[in-house]
Amino acid sequence: MSKPGRILACSFILCGVFAFLFVTAKASNAEGIPNSCVECHSKLPQGSFVGAKAHGWKGSVHQMHGVTCDKCHGGNPNAAKKEAAHKGVLGSSNPESRVYFKNVPSTCGECHGAEEFKFKQSLHYRNLEKTGKGPECVTCHGSMIITVLTPADMAAVCGMCHSKTGMAHATPDIPQYAKAVLLSLREGSALINADEELYHPAKGSPEASALTDARIALHSAKLDWHRFDLETITRHLLKAYDSLGELPPKEQKNK
Ligand code: HEC
Ligand code: HEC
Ligand code: HEC
Ligand code: HEC
Ligand code: HEC
Repeated sequence: MSKPGRILACSFILCGVFAFLFVTAKASNAEGIPNSCVECHSKLPQGSFVGAKAHGWKGSVHQMHGVTCDKCHGGNPNAAKKEAAHKGVLGSSNPESRVYFKNVPSTCGECHGAEEFKFKQSLHYRNLEKTGKGPECVTCHGSMIITVLTPADMAAVCGMCHSKTGMAHATPDIPQYAKAVLLSLREGSALINADEELYHPAKGSPEASALTDARIALHSAKLDWHRFDLETITRHLLKAYDSLGELPPKEQKNK
């Protein structure tokens, strides 16, 4: 199954398949105190919905960085008993829940504030607030299994709505456009890394400042991605490429 397929399957058929991927792992915080959410949910029946969610989280970038269940769901991870641990944990269909779809941007934004800030300026967010429809963080990244979209994912993920039959049928060309923009974003990123290796610029040198300018422009492009302003992203990218263009040819530098 393709990656966007997996994200969709996860939301819609409730991660059942991940039950098979179950592996037991010790979960503890920085002080070595076990996290009761992870401990207990890992032991829940593998085929169950609430057990499967824990399996999906395992191996994710969030698990590796200690972003445990309670960080998104609330509750008390130091309480061993279910009732005490669940204090404040609400199901995702409850509008008061931290993971109710309209509240997801703020919950994720507690750690990803820059993305949240840009996202809240987007048409997507306005649409979500107004109609309850529109992509939010989980639509594009998954919740437990955090992934970052690749250019190849655009057709499926953006095309859910930006297609002749979708919710945003007025703009069916967007997936193709977005794919091209994301491709040049990734190429820009790879190019900057390659040039840094090549030049090893000394601090304060013109090469170093050209590379810094390129990095700043690339970072702006990444953040503006969350406003989905493809023209502005493209402008930032052109700026990054311009800065790289200021680097002297390598032979000249070594003369
Ligand atoms: C001792 C076991 C145990 C502990 C500890 C525990 N849970 Fe649960 N959790 C369950 C079980 C069992 C369910 C299934 C529903 C039920 O029985 O309440 C569940 C359900 C859930 C649900 C689904 C709620 C819904 O209404 O759909 C979430 C979310 C959740 N737990 C998160 C957490 C978080 C976050 C923590 C830690 C702060 C935690 N759990 C700690 C056993 C536990
Ligand atoms: C990065 C944030 C994040 C982390 C970490 C996280 N979850 Fe979730 N979880 C969500 C979001 C958002 C939803 C609702 C959307 C969905 O179902 O994909 C959700 C849904 C759920 C559900 C389905 C019930 C419901 O309320 O819809 C369960 C059960 C659950 N999570 C348990 C866990 C457990 C157990 C862990 C830790 C092993 C965990 N989650 C870690 C964000 C998170
Ligand atoms: C408690 C803090 C915290 C919360 C809440 C949180 N994250 Fe993260 N997230 C992190 C950390 C730490 C990393 C890893 C370091 C980094 O990339 O910044 C990360 C990484 C990511 C990445 C990058 C993955 C990669 O492979 O580079 C994405 C995408 C992401 N999170 C999305 C989300 C989404 C969506 C939510 C809400 C459902 C969320 N995060 C909630 C802390 C958090
Ligand atoms: C419509 C799809 C979409 C939505 C909605 C979305 N993102 Fe993203 N996000 C992306 C794409 C595409 C990238 C990858 C850009 C790249 O390759 O650097 C990304 C990248 C990220 C990254 C990693 C940035 C990095 O430097 O690698 C984080 C963290 C993140 N998003 C968090 C969020 C949060 C938090 C939300 C909700 C407020 C959100 N995203 C909403 C599509 C989306
Ligand atoms: C859940 C549905 C949904 C998904 C998924 C979605 N969009 Fe949208 N998008 C909308 C809606 C609704 C609008 C509001 C304007 C409209 O109706 O065309 C919009 C507007 C936009 C706009 C602004 C169009 C304009 O005319 O100003 C851009 C750019 C955009 N989306 C890009 C994307 C990209 C890139 C993706 C995939 C990473 C994506 N969208 C995924 C629903 C969605």
